[in-house]
Amino acid sequence: MTVTIVGSQLGDEGKGALVDLWGGDADVVARYQGGDNAGHTVVEDGEEYKLSLVPSGAVRDKVGVLGNGCVINPNTLFSEIDTLRERGLDPDVRLARRAHVIMPYHRRLDNVEEEAKADSDEELVVGTTGRGIGPTYEDKAGRRGIRVGDLLDPEVLRQRLEYAVPQKRALIEDVYGLEAGEECDVEKLVEEYTEIGRRLAEDDMTVNCGDFLARRREAGENVMFEGAQGTLIDIDHGSYPYVTSSNPTAGGAATGTGVGPSVVGRGEVVGIVKSYLSRVGEGPMPTELKDDDREEELADFIREKGGEFGTVTGRPRRIGWLDIPMLRHAARVSGFTGIAVNHLDVLAGLDEVKVGHSYELDGEELLTMPATTERWAKCEPNLREFDPWPEVDWSSVAEDGYDAVPENAREYLDYVSGEMDVPIYAVGVGPDRAETVELANPFEQ
Ligand code: GDP
Ligand code: IMO
Ligand code: MG
Repeated sequence: MTVTIVGSQLGDEGKGALVDLWGGDADVVARYQGGDNAGHTVVEDGEEYKLSLVPSGAVRDKVGVLGNGCVINPNTLFSEIDTLRERGLDPDVRLARRAHVIMPYHRRLDNVEEEAKADSDEELVVGTTGRGIGPTYEDKAGRRGIRVGDLLDPEVLRQRLEYAVPQKRALIEDVYGLEAGEECDVEKLVEEYTEIGRRLAEDDMTVNCGDFLARRREAGENVMFEGAQGTLIDIDHGSYPYVTSSNPTAGGAATGTGVGPSVVGRGEVVGIVKSYLSRVGEGPMPTELKDDDREEELADFIREKGGEFGTVTGRPRRIGWLDIPMLRHAARVSGFTGIAVNHLDVLAGLDEVKVGHSYELDGEELLTMPATTERWAKCEPNLREFDPWPEVDWSSVAEDGYDAVPENAREYLDYVSGEMDVPIYAVGVGPDRAETVELANPFEQ
């Protein structure tokens, strides 16, 4: 069977932790979109792993696949694999030959465009991770991208680069008025990326992704799809243009790996929810805690306690109360069959716990998100207050099970589950694998 893990909010919901928890029952863990903009954390017995491209199943020695929907920077992949090897893991990662490659000029253009936007109008800035994600997906849609399979054939690689690179040079020099550098040196790129192709071939790292997964499934294996980013930064269903350039929502699992939507749909689709909101990068956030000193203090407290600093960029994350219209939207878009609610421990011991239950917009109450970002930005949250829960020994709560979760926290969880109309499969009460209260294992549903 398959289990798909999807971020319900703005990324960093703790997807890595759940992929690791349930990945124990998977044979293959496949990423279906995004690239090294992701930063997924797994903590096993106090040992912390930050994974960017290597699927989070690696900590449990599972086969990892980077599906055709991913954009791959082979240099970051290799260095991540090397680092994990130094720490005693032996990641087995396969790359879809249909996946697109992030080239040095994509990274350059990502930063050049963000700077151009800042110069033109600060409001245009997305706050990307600078990893070249957007420009690589642009080239994919523009039919001028470089795919993993192209790296295996130096002639094809050269042909593609000879077409694409002069365009990038012209863009950097003629449109942005900057100087192109090594990232636009065709000969150097051919040489470097042919060598990368050789390493991929030598280590037998490339696959025909859909076919590979079909065979594994035919052999009775379990496949987990590991979403990166989150619903609100999905290019179709998120807060455009403050989004990433792929589909983190569940539909992406099918198009991004080459299995049918019915396969994904017959399996479980689990939404990962953080008990509050964090956002790294620009864009609206109606429940953001920033309106006065008191709110800012609370945001600082949650940020410090929850370690809310970007895994990839180290940027402090913006903090807000849970946004229920956002979660209703996420549950609908991906058709969640279950949810995991993380970071319950971070909210413990506060004087007040609130959620945005609905929005007020133009005198009307909205239960879900408006489709335009401009209207979303105008939404005022109708806040609901919950009785706070105390700080407790969360490790023993995790051992004792759901009934040991403080009653007020259970009320909060029941409310969230009820509003999303989806059962809770797990509750995160700390970063470690052992600090999770498991109510159901999606592989056993
Ligand atoms: P991802 O991108 O969705 O995988 O999430 P990140 O790894 O970027 O961010 C989640 C952070 O919260 C990591 O530092 C995790 O170790 C940590 N974390 C995950 N679940 C919990 C939880 O239930 N409680 C606490 N306190 N931290 C958690
Ligand atoms: P994980 O998988 C949180 C955000 C960036 C920026 C926007 C576009 O760890 O949850 P991009 O570089 O993708 O073009 O940036 O998306 N972003 C993330 N925010 N978690 C992530 O990944 C993110 N990946 C991208 O901050 O606002
Ligand atoms: Mg992250």
